Amino acid sequence: MNTPVVTIDGPSGAGKGTVARNIAYELDFHLLDSGAIYRILGLAAIEQGVAFDDIGGLVALANSLELSFPFDRERTGIVLDGVSLGQKLRNQIVADAASQVALNPSVRRALMGLQRRQAREPGLVGDGRDLGTIVFPDADLKIFLDASVEVRAERRYLELIESGQIVERSVILRDLEIRDFRDRSRDVAPLVPARDAYVIDSSEKTVAQVVMEIQDLCKARRLA
Ligand code: DC
Repeated sequence: MNTPVVTIDGPSGAGKGTVARNIAYELDFHLLDSGAIYRILGLAAIEQGVAFDDIGGLVALANSLELSFPFDRERTGIVLDGVSLGQKLRNQIVADAASQVALNPSVRRALMGLQRRQAREPGLVGDGRDLGTIVFPDADLKIFLDASVEVRAERRYLELIESGQIVERSVILRDLEIRDFRDRSRDVAPLVPARDAYVIDSSEKTVAQVVMEIQDLCKARRLA
């Protein structure tokens, strides 16, 4: 029998990370924050002076990553080579770098094994852009979590302000629109719902409501 997998894909700021963590916590499954993998790669490229169009350099970096995602109900941790990364990945520069390195098919292929290895017993909940379409096409439950760009920008704004960063609403909105466009229109693994995904619009819903809705779907599919 295959390890059960739940995928939660969608655009930035739709609430995927929080929802995925809550579902993984409830099911006692492992967690995969695939966006963090692209963020780590973007950050490593900046820090090590590897250009975003240096495919060989990026693939070598991608092949060297060893990660895990320890979490509890409140927060998701990221451990790279045994070292906890904390908030280092949560800023606009790293987000933009992630979105750029994610454009390349060779880079995406290099990160596939690392993502699939996270599917361990008793199960996995993963969030990203292409988990239901490309990385785990046979997932037991696929969710596509969406929200209007204005709502997502406001959520991201509050998140960044809360973590002590000085940002402007209009800059966040523009940045989200640019990243959305890049993520949705790229040739490889564009951000689209899988054909068998259950689409949830979280614009008017609380995290608790979305979590409950997904929990009901998990129960119906005997994952809970
Ligand atoms: O979810 P996030 O904001 O942390 O993701 C950062 C970037 O990584 C996002 O702009 C696109 C890319 N990404 C991707 O291409 N595929 C994924 N499965 C997850 C993220």
